[in-house]
Amino acid sequence: MSDQPGPASRLDTTVAHPARRYNYWLGGKDNFAADRLSGDQVAAAFPTVKQAARENRAFLQRAVGFLAGEAGIRQFLDIGTGLPTADNTHEVAQRIAPRSRIVYADNDPLVMAHARALLTSSPEGRTAYLERDLRDPGSILDDEQLHATLDLGQPVGLMLVAILHFVRDFEDPYGVVGRLVESLPSGSYLAMSHGTYDGLPAAAVERLEQANAATGGLSRPRSRDELARFFTGLDLVDPGIVPVGDWRPAPDADRPDPVDICMYGAVARIP
Ligand SMILES: C[S@@+](CC[C@H](N)C(=O)[O-])C[C@H]1O[C@@H](n2cnc3c(N)ncnc32)[C@H](O)[C@@H]1O
Repeated sequence: MSDQPGPASRLDTTVAHPARRYNYWLGGKDNFAADRLSGDQVAAAFPTVKQAARENRAFLQRAVGFLAGEAGIRQFLDIGTGLPTADNTHEVAQRIAPRSRIVYADNDPLVMAHARALLTSSPEGRTAYLERDLRDPGSILDDEQLHATLDLGQPVGLMLVAILHFVRDFEDPYGVVGRLVESLPSGSYLAMSHGTYDGLPAAAVERLEQANAATGGLSRPRSRDELARFFTGLDLVDPGIVPVGDWRPAPDADRPDPVDICMYGAVARIP
């Protein structure tokens, strides 16, 4: 028997956590009072946050659809899984290619408890779940379960969707992404979305900063230029780094106003 504490004993429900707060914004039930309080504080400063969460989720699904379809990717490493909801990465990928293999990683024990129960693979494919922290990429890359599921000699779709804005500057976000990218073979892809204050009036930024500070400074939004630095040396696919709603939208889709969403999205090929 493992001497690791189980998910329930590691779960601190008194402190807001990004996965549970995001679940609250998406209308889910897997959240606690601290998550709802933090979620409401952000919503008071940024009333369209629930729409932003839905738009981000839709970007993730379109990006996986592109990778599994047009780009022919059959293996995914999705770091920052989130609580399971409709059309998770493996469901979108395995609908297109049932043999797709997906490794999920997240640092919230509640996500992992749900993931094991709900994120079940197609019979032909495979899924695995790691309780790991993005800020320690070596622990993800060295994980036995990852190597039992993915062949890092073959292209991988690395999903970092709505997670990097939780890695503050002192936690070396560029080093973390660089380490992951350099461990993947040519022909792999990086898909990313990231919160931003670009385009927001100064008063709105100030309100958001206050809400962020009140909940422990969870997030570090970045400008388009700061985001572009993550893609140095990679080949951005069209349309490049754009508001998530503008990344390959369905032809008949209602395009949201970027300042209501405040998220950039991009996909790039690793040469
Ligand atoms: C906003 S949710 C995004 C979920 C999903 N990627 C999506 O876009 O729908 C952010 C996720 O990242 C996870 N997360 C935040 N910081 C993390 C870290 N340092 N290491 C691993 N997971 C982290 C949270 O637990 C949460 O599940």
